[in-house]
Amino acid sequence: MKIQWYPGHMTKAVRNMQEDVKVIDLIIEMVDARAPLATRNPDVDRLGQGKGRIIILNKADMADEYCNRQWKDYFVSQGCECMYMDSRRRADMRELMACIDKASAEKRERDKKRGIMNRPVRAMVAGIPNVGKSTLINTIAGKSAAKTGNKPGVTKGNQWIRLNKQIELLDTPGILWPRFEDEHVGEMIAYIGSINDLIVNTSELAECMVQLLMELKPDALNAAYGIDLCNAGLKPYDVIGLIAAARGCLRQGGEPDIGKAELMLINDFRSGRLGRITLEKCPQ
Ligand code: G4P
Repeated sequence: MKIQWYPGHMTKAVRNMQEDVKVIDLIIEMVDARAPLATRNPDVDRLGQGKGRIIILNKADMADEYCNRQWKDYFVSQGCECMYMDSRRRADMRELMACIDKASAEKRERDKKRGIMNRPVRAMVAGIPNVGKSTLINTIAGKSAAKTGNKPGVTKGNQWIRLNKQIELLDTPGILWPRFEDEHVGEMIAYIGSINDLIVNTSELAECMVQLLMELKPDALNAAYGIDLCNAGLKPYDVIGLIAAARGCLRQGGEPDIGKAELMLINDFRSGRLGRITLEKCPQ
């Protein structure tokens, strides 16, 4: 399934991020825990050269628990600080502070050697649309955080949120763009609902989703719709027909309403009604 989309405002977003990155020490890169590689943008490596980095596997509450731990270990093995979280939960913020502390240790050491004491670490949240950047900033800022004034050299009137004596967070996230050239990326982003459905063929999407779920987690389809996939001959289209029957999606005259069943399946996956599912397998 090929998806091509590049709205004009993304060029401006990338330009803004290039500016903002100049005044920060640390990038908090957010990805979706259900598809951690597809929801990354490799540009962040270029933009973040010489900066500290934390990778957050967000929406971990919707991803498989075992896979969350596997993915975290994977990124740690690549030399990154990494944690998984539900960015709506204030309780997860303490671990994030500890992560920021670790990821900025090198910067503090450099400052110390130069005789700079107590300069706060400046961090920015970045990631592709819909991974939860604004949610994290809102949760992290809470009521206690104070907004500080503009910084010299930052002309666009950026606001900083002081989290404690050691950490300031830019209150505007950096927006990156998914790599749609890669067909796999386009599919993953469409499954999790991070692109406008108007540009996606929902029938094709639903069939691809069934195919993937039959491989990854057939039990989820059985639990949600009572469909026994032991019948080896079933094709994705047949499964959608069974979903239509199971959920009473019928047209006048009793024909299955396939279109309605397709949308139901897509929504059930996105809202977590099919359970916690990680779509991308972690490299061994
Ligand atoms: P963005 O700035 O990166 O574009 O993402 P944003 O924070 O707007 O979050 C996109 C959607 O994802 C929001 O839902 C938000 O509530 C949800 N979300 C963010 N973090 C998490 C998480 O860790 N777990 C889960 N389950 N959901 C999360 P929405 O339906 O678009 O908005 P709303 O109705 O919740 O306000």
